[in-house]
Order: sequence, then C-alpha cells, then structure tokens
Amino acid sequence: MKIDSFKIEDWMNRYCPEARYDLTSTCIKPLCVNELFSFDSSKEIFNTSLSYGDIQGSLRLKNGIKSLYTNQGEENITVTHGAIGANQLVFLALLEKGDEVVSVLPAYQQHYSIPESLGAEVKKYFLKEENNWLPDLKELEKVITRKTKLLILNNPNNPTGAVIPDDMLEKIVEIAKENNVWILSDEVYRGLNLCGNPYSKSIADLYEKGISVGSMSKTYSLPGLRVGWIAAREDLIQEIIKHREYNTISVSILDDYFASIALENRDKISERNFRIMNLGKNILKEWLAQERNVDCVLPKGGTTILLRYNKDIPSKVLCRNLQELTGTALLPGETFEMEGYLRAGFCIGEEVLKTGLLNLSEYLKSL
Ligand SMILES: Cc1ncc(COP(=O)(O)O)c(C=O)c1O
Repeated sequence: MKIDSFKIEDWMNRYCPEARYDLTSTCIKPLCVNELFSFDSSKEIFNTSLSYGDIQGSLRLKNGIKSLYTNQGEENITVTHGAIGANQLVFLALLEKGDEVVSVLPAYQQHYSIPESLGAEVKKYFLKEENNWLPDLKELEKVITRKTKLLILNNPNNPTGAVIPDDMLEKIVEIAKENNVWILSDEVYRGLNLCGNPYSKSIADLYEKGISVGSMSKTYSLPGLRVGWIAAREDLIQEIIKHREYNTISVSILDDYFASIALENRDKISERNFRIMNLGKNILKEWLAQERNVDCVLPKGGTTILLRYNKDIPSKVLCRNLQELTGTALLPGETFEMEGYLRAGFCIGEEVLKTGLLNLSEYLKSL
C-alpha cells in the first residue's frame, strides 16, 4: 500500500527539536506524572500486574469515555492507540477501492491521504477564511452526492481554531442523511470550545451513521499516554474490532489506568487548560492588534490558529529563515495544503508564545 509522506510530521520531526521557541505544538502543555498521580489516592497501579489488561479497554476507562457522550454504551466504544490509530481503523473498516470520500480541509493529513492510499476517490472541500473557516452548507450540499460514502470533519478544527456550531452540525447531519453518508468527526479537540459549552455535540450522539474519534492528547493534555477511542454504532464497532485485533491487542495497561484517572478528574484538568488557553488567546489578540503583516480569524476553540501573512514568500522558505534567524518554529501552510498561511499553537505557555510572535513580527518587517 503506497502512501504520501505525512508532511507536517516530516516538517516537525526535522525542525522542532532544534527550535528555541516552538510554536508548532497542537497540545496544551502536557501534565506530568506527579500532577496526574495527585488525583489518585489509591496508587493501585503499583500492585497491578503488567499484563495485556482488558483487550478492548477496561470498564473503568470505558465508563470515563461514555461520560463524554449522551447516547453511547460500552458496546459503542473501542479504545485505540491515540486518535491517529482510531482514524486509521475507521478508514480500514469502512473504505474500499473506488469509494467516494469527501474530506474537509484544512485538516489532519490522515483524513485524505489514508483514504487515497486505500484507493478511494477523495474530493477535497476547502474551508474559506471569509466564512470564518466554517463550511458553506450550500456548497457542501453540492459536493456530497448519493455516490459519497464518507464525509470527514475535524471539529473543533486544527489548524483554523473554528468550531462548527451545534445547529450547523445538525444541518450537516441532514445533508448526510439525505445521501446515506457516514460522517467521521475527528473530535480530538472536543471539550476545548472557548465560548459557551466547552463540549460541542458529538457526531456519534447526533447521527446513527456518525463516528466520533477522541483521545487523551489535546483536551486532557496527556499525549504521552497514547490512548484514543472510537464511538459509533455497534455493528461498525464490531467491523472495526476485526481490524483492531490485527494491529492493537490492547493499549498499555498503564495508559489505560492513567487515562481512567484523568477522565474521572477532567474538571480539574479543564480548569487548568482553560487558564492556559485564555492566556494564549489574549496574547494573540494583543499581538494582532499591532501587527500589520498578519491577519487571522481568532480561535473559537482548539489549540491552533491559521495566520495569513502579506509577504510574497513561500511558507516553507519563511519558516526555515525564521527558525534560522530567531530559533522560532512555525508550521508552513504548504505542509497542509494552505500556502500563504502559517499554523501557530497558542497553548504553549506565555514566554514562548510572546517571544515567538515578536520574532515573527520582526522578521516580517525585515522583508
Ligand atoms: C486532528 C487531529 N487528529 C488526530 C491527531 C492525533 O492525535 P493522537 O495524539 O490522539 O493520536 C491529531 C494530533 O495532532 C490531530 O490534530
């Protein structure tokens, strides 16, 4: 099976280790083990034997995951190796050569490169800045047809920071229903809405052919656990499990344990995370107010924004020069099919964000 290289991963692997001010991260400063352990009075883990554990994920973990949804039972959930493993399993279980897929961009490259590698016909639907990076439903209605098998969304969105309002999500479900289309919504940033309810409605709760992917990496600041999940109707979960058995066995029993603790204490983690997110958003606002060479739609949720710059320079060249001169790393738009833009993570801590943005301003002024 041939596949395109994963451009953002390639870029980050190459440039981030040497960055002094790394603005490429999509995570909110990860928790350390001590912080997580402070939520766990039992310390049961020290007497736990390091077996494979519960193959499909422990009941405790599944209960934690279930609590994030209104309509999902244990039978609707399977635990995966991060959201990256979850997305891949969905594609493997659902897609065959020749299937038509609509992928909404900009988004995570998995959402179009894996379907393409499986031989699917991928139609890319690009979000526009003038629509605040939200889909235009009239356009979407034309793109989705009776031939479409799967629509792929990322809500909240990386890189734009847009959040699809619940009523718009319901309209998207109607369009999908009319055409009998599955919807995969990559919801790794769900729980990180900056306005109103932090949790948007989940596609699995809204639609019988809705598939939600979630993980511990972003909303719960635990990317090192490598725990994700899929929530969907039971017959699809059973199909997914057939593929899962060939590539997962179980997630680590340590990851399962720590993820369970985190979900049971998610209010405390959220409080901490929203402090970091709001601080980052305010720094962005102040910076944009005095920055003449960059414009952007402020984030409604998630951890990243898309910066549009007004200089005639390819994004990769810009990022390479910026890093060489100032030690500041940003992600070039070309790596996610959005030339002319840069992605910045804004939940990385005050000093790095402020200095990184200042360095970008100085560099753009010098061009
Ligand atoms: C939209 C999206 N989906 C999936 C992933 C992978 O997440 P995980 O760490 O849970 O595998 C990422 C990571 O950046 C992401 O941004």
